[in-house]
Amino acid sequence: MADKLEQKALITIFGGTGDLANRKLYPSLYHLFRKGYLKEHFAVIGTARREWSDDFFRQKVTESIQDIEGSEKDAEAFASHFYYQSHDVTNRESYVKLKNLSEKLDEKYQLEGNRLFYLAMAPNFFGTIASRIQSEGFVDTEGFHRLIIEKPFGHDLESAKELNDSLRLAFNENEIYRIDHYLGKELVQNIPVLRFANPLLNAVWNNKYIANIQVSLTETLGVEERGRYYDESGAIRDMIQNHTLQIVSLLAMNPPIDLTTEDIRNEKVRALRSLRVYEGKEVAENFVRGQYGAGEVDGETLESYRDDKNVDSASTTDTFVAAKLMVDNDRWAGVPFYIRSGKRLNKKATQIAIEFKKNPHHLFGDESLAGNTLVINVQPDEGIYLYLNAKKPGGGMESMPIQLDYSHTSPDGSPIPEAYEKLILDSLRGDATYFSHWDEVSTSWNLVDHVIEEWNKETPEFPNYASGSTGPKAADELLARDGFKWFDK
Ligand code: BG6
Repeated sequence: MADKLEQKALITIFGGTGDLANRKLYPSLYHLFRKGYLKEHFAVIGTARREWSDDFFRQKVTESIQDIEGSEKDAEAFASHFYYQSHDVTNRESYVKLKNLSEKLDEKYQLEGNRLFYLAMAPNFFGTIASRIQSEGFVDTEGFHRLIIEKPFGHDLESAKELNDSLRLAFNENEIYRIDHYLGKELVQNIPVLRFANPLLNAVWNNKYIANIQVSLTETLGVEERGRYYDESGAIRDMIQNHTLQIVSLLAMNPPIDLTTEDIRNEKVRALRSLRVYEGKEVAENFVRGQYGAGEVDGETLESYRDDKNVDSASTTDTFVAAKLMVDNDRWAGVPFYIRSGKRLNKKATQIAIEFKKNPHHLFGDESLAGNTLVINVQPDEGIYLYLNAKKPGGGMESMPIQLDYSHTSPDGSPIPEAYEKLILDSLRGDATYFSHWDEVSTSWNLVDHVIEEWNKETPEFPNYASGSTGPKAADELLARDGFKWFDK
């Protein structure tokens, strides 16, 4: 009987010698192997410019999984499915060789023509590769053909459109899996379940009960080795256009008709399209940008962004963004969605806080009575917390804030799968729910492009926050103006 778990496919990774492949893709594939999703019928071709042998490649793959407990037992069996092909993405001959190898492996492992192409490399060649995949007949087999593509998906709406058009020459929209690794995180995937599986929350998820929603994606690291890419991108393209707005869309969307990929995506797109697009001076009123200066963290002095060796010494690139977004529909009229993301801040955390409105009349006579807040801790310490008020032990009716905690772990105690592991499995199974649809990508770019256009008209006074701090003061003022402050627990 056919094994239901097992996914049959040839996985071709462009950028097979790169950092992403080593740090994320090979360990994720190994976990899928260990769990039986990949078994006999799979093969992986790693391609890149370098001349490597299969043996050397397998050694690298084995090294990439050596820290996984117990991997010494089956690392060799796993790595035996890996093949290396040196590849020049612009050279036709290279594709001919790659295709021959693909056909050979298809037959050897009986892969039924299923092909997954993973572009884990610089985006400037995405279009070239996709069109070659088509013109050289890689997608003429019987099975499925899917393309996984990493961010950045364009630099602005126009370049994203160009990129998309080039991919669409070879693949349909439903064959393109645009990775947003935040959508693979357990607690992000939890948002729709929490909202729609709980009548209690579903009933209050609107402007009658919610005062504001906050989404914070903060990091302690600077730009590390990625200064060259980052200086062209900034936090707004690196973290806001994709990860942050994806989370906002899950929080703001209306209930889908069904839990199908299409129904969920339709509602996410509607939510994104309801986001107010700021123009002119509204941008400065609702968006704060920042760039980190030097600072001292744990006794160590950290250099400023502009002092990074790969960054322009007068760079005006944003390493921090905070914004007040408004969702212009009946459900959310009047409820601000505050977002922020930045590098070199005081902590690494992704946290969503839903602050509920306070009682309209103060039965407890106390203005300082804590509000009810639902917190979704995406990382670290994955969990869900609800802040309520309860009676102080002892006599009287005095209240005190309490916290209900739920810590998210696998039912059997095994580690929660990493985002990449889940997303690769989804793509093998043909489930695109937690990938970004083109309509989502383009709508997000439109919003972000308007902000950048306005920013480009003025030179910001950077740096405006110290490494290790909570970010620029203006980000706190953004909320203070509305009588709120950033949730920080
Ligand atoms: C990436 C950004 O998409 O996400 C990086 O390009 C950022 O700049 C990273 O550091 C953060 O991801 P995570 O999973 O560590 O929160």
